[in-house]
Parts: sequence; C-alpha cells; structure tokens
Amino acid sequence: MSDALLTEESVSAAVEAALAAVDAATDTAALKAARIAHTGESSALARLNARLRDLPPAEKPAAGKLVGQARGRVNAAVAAREAVLAEAERAALLEAERVDLTAAPVRARIGARHPLTLVRETVEDAFIAMGWEVASGPELEHEWFNFDALNIDPDHPARSPQDTLFVEPLGAHLVMRTQTSPVQVRSLIERGAPLYVLAPGRVYRTDEIDATHLPVFNQFEGLAIDRGLTMAHLRGTLEHLARRMFGEAARIRLRPNFFPFTEPSAEMDVWQPNAKGGARWIEWGGCGMVHPNVLRAAGLDPEEFQGFAFGLGIERTLQFAEDLNDMRDMIEGDVRFAGQWGLVTR
Ligand code: DAH
Repeated sequence: MSDALLTEESVSAAVEAALAAVDAATDTAALKAARIAHTGESSALARLNARLRDLPPAEKPAAGKLVGQARGRVNAAVAAREAVLAEAERAALLEAERVDLTAAPVRARIGARHPLTLVRETVEDAFIAMGWEVASGPELEHEWFNFDALNIDPDHPARSPQDTLFVEPLGAHLVMRTQTSPVQVRSLIERGAPLYVLAPGRVYRTDEIDATHLPVFNQFEGLAIDRGLTMAHLRGTLEHLARRMFGEAARIRLRPNFFPFTEPSAEMDVWQPNAKGGARWIEWGGCGMVHPNVLRAAGLDPEEFQGFAFGLGIERTLQFAEDLNDMRDMIEGDVRFAGQWGLVTR
C-alpha cells in the first residue's frame, strides 16, 4: 500500500476525517475506537507523520509543524468530546441508580381483620381479664337447648316459623339457634358451677335485611353462676364492659323488662356522652338474674347457686361504638370497609 504524500491537502483530509469520526461518536466506547483509528499508530495522521523523515531537511520544520498542529487539533477534539460524553454517561448512570429514600415501603397487603372480629376480641379480652372462660355451642341447635331449657314455653311466639328457622326433618327438633343463650345451659351441664362464661357466636332469625337488621348476626352471651351473686354484680360487670366498649364516660341503666330465662329481667341502655350526634341513650341488650327453671334444667339447685346473664348484639355494639348507620356494610366483604380499622400487611 503506497501512503499519501505529506501535503497540506492530505493532512487536512486526515484531520477532517478524524473530526467527523469524533463528532459521530455517541458514547465513550465509540469515541475510543475513533481515537485509535485516527490518532493511533496505523492512522492516516501517524503515517503522514512517518513521511517526515523522507523530506529534505529544509522542508522538515514546516511539514513537522503542519502535522503537529493537525494532531493537536484532533487530540483537542477527542478530549472535548470525551468530556461531554463522559458527563452524559455519568448522569444517565446516576439516574438509573436513583433510590427514592422518601418512597413509602412496599408491603404486601394481606387484607383487613373484620371490625366485628375486633369487637368480639375486645369483649373476650375484657372478660378473660376478669377470670371468665370463653365457651361456644353449635349453630344448628336442638329446640330443647334453644327454647325449653331456657324456660321458653311451647306456645311462645319466638318459637313460630315466622321467627325461627326450623331445619328438616322437623321431627328432629333442630333449629338454627336464634340466640346464644342455649350456650348457658350447655356450658353449665359441661362445666358445672360455679361458672363464669362468655359465649360469642352467630345466631339466625327470619328477619329481612335492612340498615339495622341482619338475618344472620352475632351475639355474645354472658353467664355468671356462683353462690350469692346479686343484681349489683350484674350491674357492675355490665358497666365495666360499657366503659371498655364506649369509653370511660359511658354509663348504663337497667329498665324492667321480661325474658323467660331471667327473673327479674332488664333491658340495658348505655349512655354515650361523646356520641357524634350528641349525648344519647342506646338500647344495648337484655339481662337479668338467671331463672330457677334454667338452673334446674342444667341440673343445679337454685337454692345453692344463683347468678346473672346477659345477651348483646355484636353488630349493634359495633354500630354504636363506631357510629355506623348501615349494618349492611358489615356483611358485604369490602376490604375498604374493614380496612378503616387497619390493614394487615406483610
Ligand atoms: N337471648 C336474648 C335475645 O336474643 C338476649 C338476652 C336477654 C340474653 C336477657 C340473656 C338475658 O342472657 O339474660 O334477645
């Protein structure tokens, strides 16, 4: 291969080609390749430089200056381009590795515990703290436990199919329990007296669904049987519970009422001084001193053991404690409802 002669034209052609290659490099790797191709040992400029030695001595200084300036221009262009490309690459790298320290941590949301569960557990905790046991009974219940043992006579209106779900075959005398009260008798038979039990659970009625009624809902039943228990113990226990559920300012009042399984019986109201819509009394549930016939049904001697019982709705408790106006929200399974009481995350 015969190299070009060392002339102004050949030098400036080599410089132009070098500058074009430098300009065309879009990253530092491409620029490095262009630098080697246009300034390295086998580049056009290096070969032109090598021809200096063929020149007569008189021409060497001018030609040497020409090639030297040409190499200087190309090196300067490479350095300038290098600075620009390296800075751009550094900026891109920083952007790619950016960590937002203010971003909220990503946690997997498993779901939310249902507020009815939270109410049930709060009630359970309150009674466990007083030394009570937690008991449960079947939702498909024998008529005897749901009614007869509770001193509810065979003609009582609650025993009609208008109120109670009877389960076929009717001869088996099974009902979907209409209250948690049958657990009173079951736990007395199973555990004996003295006994302090809380029995939360699901109950069933023929009610239509609306803002304040559900055909399937939850109650908790309380039963305390011992020697010498009085209505004062009942009152103190329920007032303690009211404060736990509705705040320290809550009070209760008992109004005379009738239930077949208690005598005397009372309706319990709670005073909620800090309710959103203003202070109010709300009907919370029923209670009373356990009827001697219930104690007898459980095999106890009413002369020896006495006690009190109460039954409260968990949905009503949640509704009043949290000022909810529609119970249907509690059964729709929308996590946005339950999530208001806290999401469970992993
Ligand atoms: N079982 C009643 C109901 O479902 C509630 C009730 C009232 C329970 C008085 C009791 C009680 O233990 O003493 O309406």
